[in-house]
Order: sequence, then structure tokens, then C-alpha cells
Amino acid sequence: MTVAEVRRKYLEFFKSKGHAIVPSAMLVPENDPTTLFTGSGMQPMVPYLLGANHPSGARIADSQKCFRAQDIEEVGDNRHTTFFEMLGNWSLGDYFKKEQLRFVFEFLTATIGLDPSRLYFTAFAGDEKNGIPQDAESVEVLQTLFGERDIEACVVALLTEELGGRNGMQGGRIFYYNARKNWWSRAGVPENMPAGEPGGPDCEIFFDFYPDSGEKCILPGFGDFCHPNCDCGRFMEIGNSVFMEYRKTDKGFERLPQRNVDFGGGLERIAAASSGNADVFTLDVFTPTTKALESASGKLYGDTSFLRSFRVVAEHLRASVFLIADGAHPSNTDQGYFTRRLLRRAVRHLDLLGIKENTLPNLVSSIVETYSDVYPSLAQKKSMIEEEIGNEEQKFRKTLDAGLKEFNRLAGKVVESKMLSGKDAFMLFSSYGLPIDMITDLAPERGLAVDTAGFDEELRKHHEISRAGSEKKFKGGLADTSEISVKYHTATHLLHQALRDVLGEEVRQKGSNITPERLRFDFAFGRKMTDEEKKRVEDIVNEKIQAKLPMQKVILPFAEAEKTGALHFFGEKYGDEVNVYFIGDSLQTAYSKEFCGGPHVTNIGVLGAFKISKEEAVSAGVRRIKAVLTE
Ligand code: ALA
Repeated sequence: MTVAEVRRKYLEFFKSKGHAIVPSAMLVPENDPTTLFTGSGMQPMVPYLLGANHPSGARIADSQKCFRAQDIEEVGDNRHTTFFEMLGNWSLGDYFKKEQLRFVFEFLTATIGLDPSRLYFTAFAGDEKNGIPQDAESVEVLQTLFGERDIEACVVALLTEELGGRNGMQGGRIFYYNARKNWWSRAGVPENMPAGEPGGPDCEIFFDFYPDSGEKCILPGFGDFCHPNCDCGRFMEIGNSVFMEYRKTDKGFERLPQRNVDFGGGLERIAAASSGNADVFTLDVFTPTTKALESASGKLYGDTSFLRSFRVVAEHLRASVFLIADGAHPSNTDQGYFTRRLLRRAVRHLDLLGIKENTLPNLVSSIVETYSDVYPSLAQKKSMIEEEIGNEEQKFRKTLDAGLKEFNRLAGKVVESKMLSGKDAFMLFSSYGLPIDMITDLAPERGLAVDTAGFDEELRKHHEISRAGSEKKFKGGLADTSEISVKYHTATHLLHQALRDVLGEEVRQKGSNITPERLRFDFAFGRKMTDEEKKRVEDIVNEKIQAKLPMQKVILPFAEAEKTGALHFFGEKYGDEVNVYFIGDSLQTAYSKEFCGGPHVTNIGVLGAFKISKEEAVSAGVRRIKAVLTE
């Protein structure tokens, strides 16, 4: 099946089960200052999972574009991609485990045609510490489903730290694992979740690409005792049903007001399973690009010495096309930093394929044509995308040669120690634009190691030069809740109110984005601000900071919260109960009041000095402010 067929069949299937089909949200989230990219299908659904009414009802399905920056270095094997589409279905307080598992089982076996004897499931073993019980209900439902196909589904518990250890399959079909594997939240295991974050036990589905392997792994030396979560490549996770019914609180876990289902399926992985070939890069969405690369390089995709480079170029180019279309233009900061990094890695791998001429813009069509039926904006933005990618390639090719020369010179100097120092690595990075992962790729080719700890230290010292440091903080697509970002978040509330004071009540927040370096705040307003207005806004914000007002929170029923006059401009996204954050001694006398999920500082005195660094237009009627906090 082609990727487009799987996507279409999935949406049709869930439509037939009463789901409203919604379009994919952008890769660069709107109105969510806490995360750089949409990294899972559920991200745009968080308010509804927490209890807000979704305008389209309680059954929703989509195919969501996702980008996971943390997987950049994994790209090159047969299954990892930074960009992917996640097939999602949600029950927002409607159906639960029984219906969900039946839907997914039916979709995979009857609609896609996967052989049920090649499907394996995992379930949550329970977490005594946090008082969360074992998910025996899902296991029972799954046993029934397999039973209907005349498959006896044995249940095995793999709870050791090394997950499986020397126990392996043991004839199992359904496996219990602990929270490290079968609990899902944006922050991972229960211990890592911040208060307020929703999560729950999950039930993952694996496809066995090598059903004749018995108890064994497919990679020799990896292990004799394979199991679904073993990484040898035999089993591939193709979907995950999260039973999202918990929320972390300051004290532990409580049940959400409603029991939700959050399903995420890997569109490409399901397509790969349907073809029986585990290499997602052989799917129809990649072949036009790999074919074009074959003719440009004279090399073959199947040649193992070039396989990784083919995959990196095809994957990074596709991700860059989607990122640029969604507004992440190549740059040194924010989301654009990742687009630049992807394109540079792609250029380096073109170089390894022996392609020395500018090539990337010529490959853009291969992606746009594949996807423009579903994402028409790609076709509309094609020439802009080609131009930006072309500029990046051209620029980087100039430095790449110089950077490689410099690398070789430095490598010649350290033949004795066999170690490239953190300082040298940082110089290659900051002066020649060689990404650190490119340096660590190059070094072994010369028999060298890289002092990456030393590099990190240099990077930390030169944080203002590059955003690579914050990339670490954004790992996992999770909210960056570093101290400085929390300060910027609080400063955003102050700025919002100060703008209303100075420019009038028509000022409304349109979006915001926070990094550890600055805040960005978009608001509805019809004209450029004068210098005097900017100064007045700064003065008000600084005055409030100096007054060391507390930032406090109350949780109120929606109607009560509205009565407080707290600002809330994304109306339909809120639930029955909402957090109102206010700056001041009491809700009645507060300077600023907003509906907000937090987190915030407890006293705004810690914010330091506030300064507007830029005020500009974003579009007709929308202005953008960038501002910084200094000591
Ligand atoms: N939110 C779940 C995941 O990303 C479905 O795996």
C-alpha cells in the first residue's frame, strides 16, 4: 500500500466509526509558547484531553505532521525520521479501552490486511509507588481479539530493569512492561512529569518483520532473547493507544474529569508493515528522491556504503521542506536553527555521495509532488522553499570546503593525542558552521575522538552565539521549563497588560514563543508603535517588577473564572475548570489576570530588567514584539 492509501484508509475507517476528521496542525505550534515543534498528534489536543469541549465533538481523528529534533542523529537506519505523520484518534471522554483496542485491531488486520499472527502488544504492568494499577483490562480485551482469530495470546511479564534480560519471548503475544515502556506523557515516566501534565498507561502494537526468528534477535550479537522492545530491528512499534485518564498533581496522581483515548500510529511504519519491508526509505514517498539522488550521484541506494547518506539526504530534505512551509525558515535561532542544521547535514551527505554541485533545490519537486494532494500549501510555496534551500546549500558549501580543510589541519596536529579538543571542535562549529555531530562523524574517519564534554563547556560559555545549547533543553519536544524561560513566560503576561494600558483594549494576544534568550509576543494592533509608546510599556513592566508583586494562581470553574475579567482569547480551548494566574496581592486588585496553564515565577521581582528589542509587523493588523530580560 502507498503511504497515501494508508492515510486515506485510516481516516475513512475512523470516519465510519463516528469520528470527525480534523486537519493537521502546523509543525510550528501556534499559541503555545512552551514547545518549539509539534512532536506528537496529541499536542494540539491537550486542552481537550484536560476537559475542554472540542468544537468537533468527542471523537476526533487526523494525520498530524510531527517533527522530533531529538531524533536527528538517529536518522540513517531503516526506520528513524525526524519528520513523520502520526495517525491519531481520540476519544475525549467517550469510548475507552474495549472499543479502542477493537478499532485498532480491526483497522490493522481487516483494513490494512496485516497478518494478526505478526502483531504483538505490550501493556502497563502497574506502578505501586504512584498508586496506578496494572492494565489487566486491556490485556483481557486483547486476548479476546486474538481469540476471535484463533490465536492463543499468552501473557508474559518482562519487568526487569534490562527489560527482557535473558527471558525473551517465552511464547508470549502480550507483554507487560513497567512505566519506562508503557506509560505515556509528554514528559515520559510519572516521575518526570510536571504538575498539571496529563498521562496514562499505554498499549503499544508491534509488527514482527522476521516471523521465522523464533526466540532470537535478527542481529547476531545483539541477543538470543528477543522481545518486542528489544532494539534489534525485528519488531517495529507501529502504534500506541494511550489511556489518558490521569493528571499529575503536587501530591501525586489524580483521575482526569474524563477518561480519554490518545492513539498515535506511525503512518509510514504501518505502510512498511503492509509491504513486509522494514525499510521506510523504500516507501513511495521517498523513492522519487532516492531515484533522483541515484542519477545525480551515479551510486545505488542498495549499496551499503552509501545507504546512510541516501537516507539522511532524503529525510532531512523532506523535513526541511515541511518545516519551511510551516514557517521555520533557516536561521541561527529558534525553530529555524533546526532547519539549518538539517540542511547542513544533508549537504555533507551529498558530499559523501560525491555530489559537489548545488543539488537540493532540484530535489524539492520530488517531495512537493508526492505530498501536494494532501498538503496543497507545499505547491503554493514551492519556489520560496527552493530558493531558501538553495541559499542555504550555496552558503554552506562555501564554508564546508574551508571547514573540512581546517578540520584536516587540526586533525594533523593531534595525531599523538588522538583527541580533538573541545576548543578546536567549538572553533570548527562557530567559525565554519560544522555541526558537532558532523565533527563527531568526521573524527573517527581520521582515527580521532572528540572531547564533546569540552565542546559543551565552550558552547555553554558562548551561549549567545548559538542556539545549540537550548536544543538540549528542548529534548523530547517537551516544554522548556528552564528557569529563564519561566521568567520570560511571566514577563509575557506583564507585557500583555502593559500593552493594553498604553495602546488600548483592542490589543489581544495572537501568539507567543519563548526561548531562553528572549520572548516573542504577537498581538492584534493596527499600526507601528511609536518610540514613546514602547518606552511607556517598558517603564510600566519595569515598575511592576520593581514593586516585587507576587504571581499567584487560582483554579476556578469556567464561568467564575470569566467573571474575574481574566484575559482569555482562545475561548473554546478551555475546560470546566481553569487556572487563572494573577499578578498582585489579590485577585480583585491584581494588575494582570489571565487564563493560563503556567508555569510561572512566584514573585515577579526576580525578572530583572525588561527591554523591548524589536517591534515589527507580522501581517496586516498583527504586530510582534521581541523583548529581553537582563540582570
Ligand atoms: N501520544 C502518543 C504517542 O505519541 C500516542 O505515542
